[in-house]
Amino acid sequence: MSGAAALRACFTLLIIITIDFFATSATSSDTISANESLAGDQTLVSANEVFELGFFTPDSTNYYVGIWYKNIPDRTYVWVANRDTPVTNSSSSVFKIGDKGDNVVILDQEAATGTVLWSSNQTKANSSPVNPVAQLLDNGNLVVREEGDESSSSGFLWQSFDFPTDTLLPDMKLGWDLSQGLDRFLNSWKSPQDPSPGDFSFKLDFHGYPEAFLWDQGKKLYRSGPWNGIRFSGVPEMKSTSDIDFTFVSDQQQVYYSYEVNNPNMISRLTVNSTGTLQRFTWVEDSKSWSMFWDAPKDQCDDFGECGPYGICDTNGSPVCNCTSGFSPKNPQAWYLREGSDGCVRERELDCSSDGFLPLKGLKLPESSNAFVDMEMSLEDCQKGCASNCSCTGYSSANISNGEAGCVMWFGDLLDMRHYLDGGQDFYVKLSASDIVAYGGLVAQNSSTNGLGTLAIVGIAGGGGGVLLLALAAFLMWKRKTMPIRRGRNTEPKGARERSQDFLLNEVVVSSKREYSGENKPEDIELPLFDFNAIASATKNFCDENKLGQGGFGCVYKCRIEEGPVVAVKRLSKNSGQGIEEFKNEVRLIARLQHRNLVRLVGCCVEMDEKILIYEYMEHKSLDSVLFSKTKSSMLNWERRFNVICGIARGLLYLHQDSRFRIIHRDLKASNILLDGELNPKISDFGMARIFGRDQVDANTRRVVGTYGYMAPEYAMDGLFSEKSDVFSFGVLVLEIVSGKKNRGFYYANNELNLLGHAWKLWKEGKGLELVDSAVGDAYSMNEVLRCIQVGLLCVQEHADDRPAMSSVVLTLSSENPTMPHPKSPGFCLGRAIETDSSSSKHDETCTVNQVTVTILDAR
Ligand SMILES: *[C@@H]1O[C@H](CO)[C@@H](O)[C@H](O)[C@H]1NC(C)=O
Ligand SMILES: *[C@@H]1O[C@H](CO)[C@@H](O)[C@H](O)[C@H]1NC(C)=O
Ligand SMILES: *[C@@H]1O[C@H](CO)[C@@H](O)[C@H](O)[C@H]1NC(C)=O
Ligand SMILES: *[C@@H]1O[C@H](CO)[C@@H](O)[C@H](O)[C@H]1NC(C)=O
Ligand SMILES: *[C@@H]1O[C@H](CO)[C@@H](O)[C@H](O)[C@H]1NC(C)=O
Ligand SMILES: *[C@@H]1O[C@H](CO)[C@@H](O)[C@H](O)[C@H]1NC(C)=O
Ligand SMILES: *[C@@H]1O[C@H](CO)[C@@H](O)[C@H](O)[C@H]1NC(C)=O
Ligand SMILES: *[C@@H]1O[C@H](CO)[C@@H](O)[C@H](O)[C@H]1NC(C)=O
Repeated sequence: MSGAAALRACFTLLIIITIDFFATSATSSDTISANESLAGDQTLVSANEVFELGFFTPDSTNYYVGIWYKNIPDRTYVWVANRDTPVTNSSSSVFKIGDKGDNVVILDQEAATGTVLWSSNQTKANSSPVNPVAQLLDNGNLVVREEGDESSSSGFLWQSFDFPTDTLLPDMKLGWDLSQGLDRFLNSWKSPQDPSPGDFSFKLDFHGYPEAFLWDQGKKLYRSGPWNGIRFSGVPEMKSTSDIDFTFVSDQQQVYYSYEVNNPNMISRLTVNSTGTLQRFTWVEDSKSWSMFWDAPKDQCDDFGECGPYGICDTNGSPVCNCTSGFSPKNPQAWYLREGSDGCVRERELDCSSDGFLPLKGLKLPESSNAFVDMEMSLEDCQKGCASNCSCTGYSSANISNGEAGCVMWFGDLLDMRHYLDGGQDFYVKLSASDIVAYGGLVAQNSSTNGLGTLAIVGIAGGGGGVLLLALAAFLMWKRKTMPIRRGRNTEPKGARERSQDFLLNEVVVSSKREYSGENKPEDIELPLFDFNAIASATKNFCDENKLGQGGFGCVYKCRIEEGPVVAVKRLSKNSGQGIEEFKNEVRLIARLQHRNLVRLVGCCVEMDEKILIYEYMEHKSLDSVLFSKTKSSMLNWERRFNVICGIARGLLYLHQDSRFRIIHRDLKASNILLDGELNPKISDFGMARIFGRDQVDANTRRVVGTYGYMAPEYAMDGLFSEKSDVFSFGVLVLEIVSGKKNRGFYYANNELNLLGHAWKLWKEGKGLELVDSAVGDAYSMNEVLRCIQVGLLCVQEHADDRPAMSSVVLTLSSENPTMPHPKSPGFCLGRAIETDSSSSKHDETCTVNQVTVTILDAR
């Protein structure tokens, strides 16, 4: 150390000591000046007491300087200064303005030298403020500025908004200040107790047509889609309202996204949580809790690149991946078995002179960091531009906020598209001229002799012989470059624009599906039909060796059909009481139910009187085979159990509410929950009641579908079922998962109490934690366990009306401190022996090894 430096260090120390001596002890102003500092539990409070800044500790050992909401009891940190470098003794550390007066630092004032533990570093070169102050503003921004210079227009010397942690507050900018090279992005905490930088970041990419990505270190998880003038193309539900305004700015100097809240009573924040989900919360004063009203990624189609190049993901599709017209699956075997990431390949190459465009409606635009954007070009020029450049693969308008304006052209493979029923936008994909003829689309026309602009429309009707005729006509028309042709029964003459819109509503049949030649109605081809002989040979003629299990609806076999992946094949028992058409309808309907917590149906087979369903194969088989196994139950630690509970809840919510059809499962139980390779739960056997005919079950209320131990009292006794009877079964499952014990077959204290009664008794006595399965070990969150038990007990209450709906179950499970009513006594509990008939219980035993399904048709 040179003499001068030593002198300076000494001098600094002196100043610090002096300052400490004079510093006012309980700072509660919003400002500190250069000669003041914060230590211990001193805080800065913004002028209107919205935000507070000070030292905090999330784990009682490490101390951080952070900003939180002053008036929100559920302590929520929106910014952390020293994420990487926690201090271990908050009372010996101070937070203050740095030496040069243009940043903030944390110093260790015990150490003789007043070591700098953390520094925000200077951002403005060559500034030498005279009287710098640090101030916490009411929007949560900590700024360093010249005293008296209240306006932000001249620029702060430093501001925390330029260095976000995991939270985007109103007024903050997510994105780039290109002139300063400043990239403001969100980065998750490592864990809820550890604010150090986590694996997940949400960053704006300013290249091409700007959009934001959620990254897991170097891997893209999710893409917002580009800003289309109104919203991110991949967030169709995003709408500016009177309460909240979204802004996107993209020019030479800056590219950023931000939002503003106009309602002073509304508190909203966007965060990346430590497990990699983007979440938007608002504070609900009545319940004193944060309510999550948006999150992403939220479904399979949100997963980046789910369907590979030229694939379009649609959660209502079956399978979810579909190739763009003119393309077919690169790896058809995998594709039909629902592995779409290899994407699709062109059926006919472009010839680069006479190619045309097929309009696709309702899309999330493809990944666009290599796209070319011109805000001034018209859509027609855009089409011409794309037609004239061989490497251009598609185009769309760039700004749809006021009709269509601007131009975006894509080059190379089109990635990560998805289809929305509502809120997607138009995209034009380039296809060879013959595909345009086959699928209908826009042929680039050179002259505008027809006076209707440059778009010629050719199209074909839905199917049948008309296709050929129309295609031929279209081809001739296209050859002669004449007027657009009229389509189908549509006799009203329309303008080209109108007609093109009209056409867009009629998507065309994909040729790759034509191989199912026996089927000619387009809706017949959604679910792959397998050949009975292929299945019979794959299962060695349904040999017992391949059998995974047996239940009331039929037997389940494990096999591979013609080189495909391993699947589970369920051969339905022959008395399903349904005709072939009815059966196909039901299967098609069930195949449309798509959710990450439902087992996927990958195909079916109907031949003669054989009805077979083909499901994805689940590595860890059923939940009961793990949960109730002495050797395997320790695989389910608490975190996994909680994940299983939440997953089942989400799957069931989807069946009850979110899917397009209201489905009551009627036989939810541990053997109907399957676990994939990562022990994620998937509900199986849903919709069986439909396949086996609702009327049949209804007419025969004594012949109850269900399993004792899981059945709600009103269902078992009176044959009444509703969503609330599923909720009951869910409650039983929750208590089984927490305790590792079967409800049925568990008796406590002289057979007086079953598991439900036992759980309730412990709960009432405040000994809920005693219920926890010893196989879980000690590592669990008490809060989560108690929350689950309480939810379980609420679900098994005797009266259906008292039980919560699955939507509130899901909400409660995901809230840190939910407000929940106190459970009343469970159904089937005190002093009431449960009827068990030995034949059905034996049946159940043989079924616990079941892979896909077991349902007991219990005839009494
Ligand atoms: C700190 O400095 C300000 C002006 O910069 C002065 O008004 C104030 O009195 C000083 N406070 C102490 C404790 O020295
Ligand atoms: C923290 O610092 C205070 C004040 O300097 C000191 O009294 C205390 O012993 C320190 N605690 C630890 C654990 O070092
Ligand atoms: C400040 O700069 C130092 C040295 O370049 C670096 O180690 C530190 O991480 C920087 N601090 C922040 C908050 O960027
Ligand atoms: C992150 O958010 C997701 C979805 O909302 C949730 O399932 C997960 O538990 C959250 N993680 C944490 C650590 O809160
Ligand atoms: C696939 O796309 C075609 C049009 O391109 C459409 O007719 C068909 O219904 C889609 N299939 C599914 C399963 O979504
Ligand atoms: C096509 O566009 C790409 C990307 O903008 C450009 O690099 C290339 O030069 C263009 N080719 C032609 C023939 O204009
Ligand atoms: C999009 O169009 C609207 C209305 O025409 C305009 O106000 C807005 O500035 C445009 N956005 C961009 C990014 O050009
Ligand atoms: C379109 O017309 C222009 C001149 O009008 C001509 O130079 C060009 O080659 C034509 N392009 C096509 C694809 O026919």
